Amino acid sequence: MKQAIENIRQQSILEIENSKDLKELNDIRVKYLGKKGELTSVLRGMGALSAEERPIIGSLVNVVKNELEELISGKEEQFKQEEMNRKLESERIDITLPSKKIKRGSKHPINRTIEEIEDLFVSMGYDVISGPELETDEYCFERLNLPEGHPARDMQDSFYITNKYLLRTQTSAVQARTMIEKGGKEPIRMICTGKTYRREDDATHSHQFNQVEGLVIDKKENNVSLADLKGTLEVFVRKMLGENSELRFRPSYFPFTEPSYEVDVSCFNCGGKGCPLCKKTGWIEILGAGIVHPNVLKMNGYDPELYGGFAFGTGIDRLAMFKYGITDMRYLYGNDYRFLSQFDRKDWFIQTYLIIKMKKSDKSFVIIIIMDLVEKRRG
Ligand code: PHE
Repeated sequence: MKQAIENIRQQSILEIENSKDLKELNDIRVKYLGKKGELTSVLRGMGALSAEERPIIGSLVNVVKNELEELISGKEEQFKQEEMNRKLESERIDITLPSKKIKRGSKHPINRTIEEIEDLFVSMGYDVISGPELETDEYCFERLNLPEGHPARDMQDSFYITNKYLLRTQTSAVQARTMIEKGGKEPIRMICTGKTYRREDDATHSHQFNQVEGLVIDKKENNVSLADLKGTLEVFVRKMLGENSELRFRPSYFPFTEPSYEVDVSCFNCGGKGCPLCKKTGWIEILGAGIVHPNVLKMNGYDPELYGGFAFGTGIDRLAMFKYGITDMRYLYGNDYRFLSQFDRKDWFIQTYLIIKMKKSDKSFVIIIIMDLVEKRRG
């Protein structure tokens, strides 16, 4: 019996040593130590032994069992280690290789312009309000003193979805929404930026563009006047198009303001001397504006005897074009990477300025920004 156990021992040790992989090792384990394994069978056959022999053979089998288990797990470890080394070798990364350049986007010039406008007006105490692009006829026209059949509705060809709903032709709809929301009592100082839509069919207009609307309403005794409108627009235009810009108010017509004006800015391209951009007039029309019509106040819950104010509106796309010297509107909507990537320069300058300012205070932060800049430049 002892001999048989020793034979099993030697045979299994040999097999363990010669095994080539984890699978083979597992087969060996089953063959000798499994439920029906050779060593287990020896234990089963112990019933036939004498009482003296039984404990001796029993402990011998256990010793061999433990030895084999140890050998197997040692070998197992070895296989795992080899597998890991093989993986490390085959999946090795050469960190000295140049990396792939990731192209970064940058903020769209229209969004930049919108943010700049919003920042400016927030700094003057205005709220930034938004309204729906799918608007009702009531807010887009009726509540702005443009009842059905009013000839001025033809000024803006509309995309009607149903008789009641249309894509808003002007952000002026948000004037009415704000007045209704404020319930005819609170003063209002708001701007609204957003997309607007018109059924344009010529090559120089887009069916979709962006507008900014401004509305100021206050008690009559606070005297919100044409002079305030002019001052406000001057700050606005000078910030957007240059400190030397001059404004010119021309009488015009909008159903929701009275008096109404079209506002021109002195041509920033030629300084007012006359050039192709201003069609040799020295002026470029940019804004619509006026004193809020009493009917509009009344229709939207404000008593025109007690309240008054001004409103203005302009196209953001054109402003962005003037601001950045963009000559063709289609660039704004083409999403051409080469065009868009030019607009991160400003951020670059701002960040460089920050570095210079912070150099003394926080070195680690500076390093992060420098890394960011390098990355941007490479992209
Ligand atoms: N909503 C007008 C337009 O789209 C502009 C405007 C706004 C005029 C506010 C006067 C007051 O042409």
